[in-house]
Amino acid sequence: VTSVSNVDLDLDGGWPVPTEASRALNERARRVIPGGVSGYGRLDRPYPLYMTRAEGAYIEDVDGNRYVDFNCALGTVLLGHNDPRLRETIDETLPAHGVSLATAHPVEVEFAERLTRIVPSAERVTFALLGTEMTYHALRLARSYTGRRQVVKFEGNYHGWHDYLFWSVRFDPADAGPPTDPIPIPASNGMRPAADSEVLVCGFNDTAHLEELFARRGGEISAVIVEPIFHNAGVVMPAPGFLEACRELCTRHGALLVFDEIVTGFRQALGGAQAIFGITPDLTTLGKGIANGFPLSVLAGRADVMDTLAEPGGAYVSGTYNGHLLMVAIGDRCCRILEEDPPYDRLAELGGTLRRGIEEAIAETGVTASVSQFGSVWGLYFTRRPITSYRDIARFATGRIAAMQLAYRRFMLSRGFYFQPHNVIRAYMSAAHTPEHVREAVAATREFFELHADDLRDEL
Ligand SMILES: Cc1ncc(COP(=O)(O)O)c(C=O)c1O
Repeated sequence: VTSVSNVDLDLDGGWPVPTEASRALNERARRVIPGGVSGYGRLDRPYPLYMTRAEGAYIEDVDGNRYVDFNCALGTVLLGHNDPRLRETIDETLPAHGVSLATAHPVEVEFAERLTRIVPSAERVTFALLGTEMTYHALRLARSYTGRRQVVKFEGNYHGWHDYLFWSVRFDPADAGPPTDPIPIPASNGMRPAADSEVLVCGFNDTAHLEELFARRGGEISAVIVEPIFHNAGVVMPAPGFLEACRELCTRHGALLVFDEIVTGFRQALGGAQAIFGITPDLTTLGKGIANGFPLSVLAGRADVMDTLAEPGGAYVSGTYNGHLLMVAIGDRCCRILEEDPPYDRLAELGGTLRRGIEEAIAETGVTASVSQFGSVWGLYFTRRPITSYRDIARFATGRIAAMQLAYRRFMLSRGFYFQPHNVIRAYMSAAHTPEHVREAVAATREFFELHADDLRDEL
């Protein structure tokens, strides 16, 4: 039993719902898959739950427990799981075209034209599968186009796992210097040393430090890359003027501004966060919500920059699965569905109802917590302090807050809600989520607050 404040986490007893089949699978899996999971981010305590199917807003584990899914496949599922319209697209595409041609094909032309109409920065687009690939290509393209080496990224922002950008994602601020002079911290062992990384880090929303970086090294900076809404930390909004400053500094110093809209693209608006905030980056990466769980990613941007991809000696982008026919067909269909029947107002209303409900529960139970929400994404933080950057939540990954977050996830599981393991409580909803799901989630959260009112009286 792990004890934190008065929160006892009976991890040896498993999860608070019957999960014997998950436990047994994990024992088998650990013998053949490192940790028993496909990737570090899926590790969980006491063991991961093995999910077996998902439909609409629900996800079901191998023990037959059905949960309202607040993970939505890490934010990718926006229409709801297993959408019949996308199954229809698969049924139409396979007989007409096959699966993957690794050639030019008409479907990518159709979708590219649609995207250039919808996404403000998209004068040209190119397709791959992973988000990680596209942030990699964006930076290589920026270096190639500008002839400069340095890249600015913001602490805590996640842009995939490659060595260009897997810096200062999760770290202990004690190791990372003061916010006025932050040191890049590699997020994985095996990465090249910081001295060779050519990455400059800055606090999210820290316009003053960004200005200072440009004043000192503006001539070396090829690109600034940013999650325009910091969803890797739940929901941390850009402070007024922050994205504008990113835009202005890049323009003034001849660097490219890259919006990583892999989460925000399509999930928060069809045109992405750039359409919401009215700021047009030079390059944009899209993924996740663009194909409702199917692997598809997009690099979009200014014609003069993107067209260099087709020039001999330009940055190289290619691969067996680039422009994958079936994925592009699904992305195009997904986009048409979202154009014809936009879920955004309804999702914003659902999200708003949930946020107000939890705010009320916090006020009435007096617990040390806050909730943040934008559209279909929300985050719950066991603190009253404002959260504007990664350093405000760095301590959540370990110690008492981590234990309280795990206690919350366990409690919510017992009430029928699934959250992903993450360093903060972050939740995604889809168009299949209903006001009833939200009402029940608020009621369960209130119950948790009441149960832990004493533990949550002060800052953890
Ligand atoms: C903002 C952002 N960028 C990039 C990525 C990497 O995308 P992928 O996991 O598809 O490689 C992620 C994944 O979570 C992300 O959230």
